[in-house]
Amino acid sequence: MRSILSGLLDTVLDASVVFSFDRNGYRRHARRFDPKDLDVDLSGKTVLVTGANSGIGKATVRGLALFGARVVMLCRNEARGREAADEVGAQTGSRALEVVSLDVSDLGDVRRVAAALSGEPVDVLVHNAGVLPDRRVTTLDGLELTLATNLVGPYLLTSLLLPALERARGRVVHVSSGGMYTQRLDVAGLFRGGDEPFDGVVQYARTKRALVVLSELLAERLAGNGVTFSAMHPGWADTPAVRTALPRFHAVTKAILRTPSEGADTVVWLAASQVAGGQSGFFWFDRAKAATTPVPRTGETGEERAALRAALAEAAGLDLAAPTAARTGPGRKRRTRGS
Ligand SMILES: NC(=O)c1ccc[n+]([C@@H]2O[C@H](COP(=O)([O-])OP(=O)(O)OC[C@H]3O[C@@H](n4cnc5c(N)ncnc54)[C@H](OP(=O)(O)O)[C@@H]3O)[C@@H](O)[C@H]2O)c1
Repeated sequence: MRSILSGLLDTVLDASVVFSFDRNGYRRHARRFDPKDLDVDLSGKTVLVTGANSGIGKATVRGLALFGARVVMLCRNEARGREAADEVGAQTGSRALEVVSLDVSDLGDVRRVAAALSGEPVDVLVHNAGVLPDRRVTTLDGLELTLATNLVGPYLLTSLLLPALERARGRVVHVSSGGMYTQRLDVAGLFRGGDEPFDGVVQYARTKRALVVLSELLAERLAGNGVTFSAMHPGWADTPAVRTALPRFHAVTKAILRTPSEGADTVVWLAASQVAGGQSGFFWFDRAKAATTPVPRTGETGEERAALRAALAEAAGLDLAAPTAARTGPGRKRRTRGS
């Protein structure tokens, strides 16, 4: 009786969203975690984490460093990256933290870093870097900044590192957001130019929805190559991004936000646990599979998924889901900043 009641209470609290995404939700969900899942030794494994100097990315580095992994911290600002590496090194005793400068929104920079890292096996690639700007900014590649950072850059990086991931039978983890539940896949909206008013929150949610669909597409198309693709959302964690991009939300919720480590817990679990290995194409929240379309009319059609694949292939100049020989294409023409 007691367990039926507690199961019912869990269902009600999870449906409330607030008491699921918040820190009480994490602590309630954590009661079902199996500590043995993370009884792992990652010595000799190479993990790449984007946006590794702050918030959930830094907490992910800390979590994986504690298991002995060599962590390559991909940070757009090298000085901030080194500061974070020193801090995590002091906390964990790890001497296997490296900082590599990478601006994920700059496709040329993604190609440069991928070329430097592709010679050795990559066991885990965590796409954590993310932005939520309040106005339209256009990158040198002619892409809107949120789209470039949260979706196209990660897509290109995975594409270029695929042989290195295949060699290690590696794992790719996409950090999405619960905000994606508010939007259905809208490829035209994602790639729309400056002819319409810009809504940063909507564009952010669109990129995060598309990231989850991308993870599913890659898992489906590349099934059999040994690489596991996962997407997750961290709930609501108190990080610089939330403080600066959503100040009103932060002011109201700060007492109940998760710590960055609680937000990063499922990333670490997907990257490191035996049980998550080989489970490809799922969306996760607090170490459990989560629905992607609980809100009516947010599911996409097969044509819309194909449109996403085509748009990403054009933007990045590479069709990851095509057979190897047909993968490279002309790519997008570079433009100057602000055009
Ligand atoms: N916190 C939450 O409640 C929450 C909820 C849902 C999803 N998320 C997702 O979690 C991820 C981490 O966010 P966070 O909350 O931990 O925020 P954060 O502390 O601000 O971290 C964001 C990280 O991304 C980096 N970054 C931004 N643009 C980049 C670029 N072009 N190239 C490389 N790195 C770049 C930032 O670098 P700088 O330090 O140089 O700016 C920073 O290291 C994001 O994808 C976010 O969307 C967070």
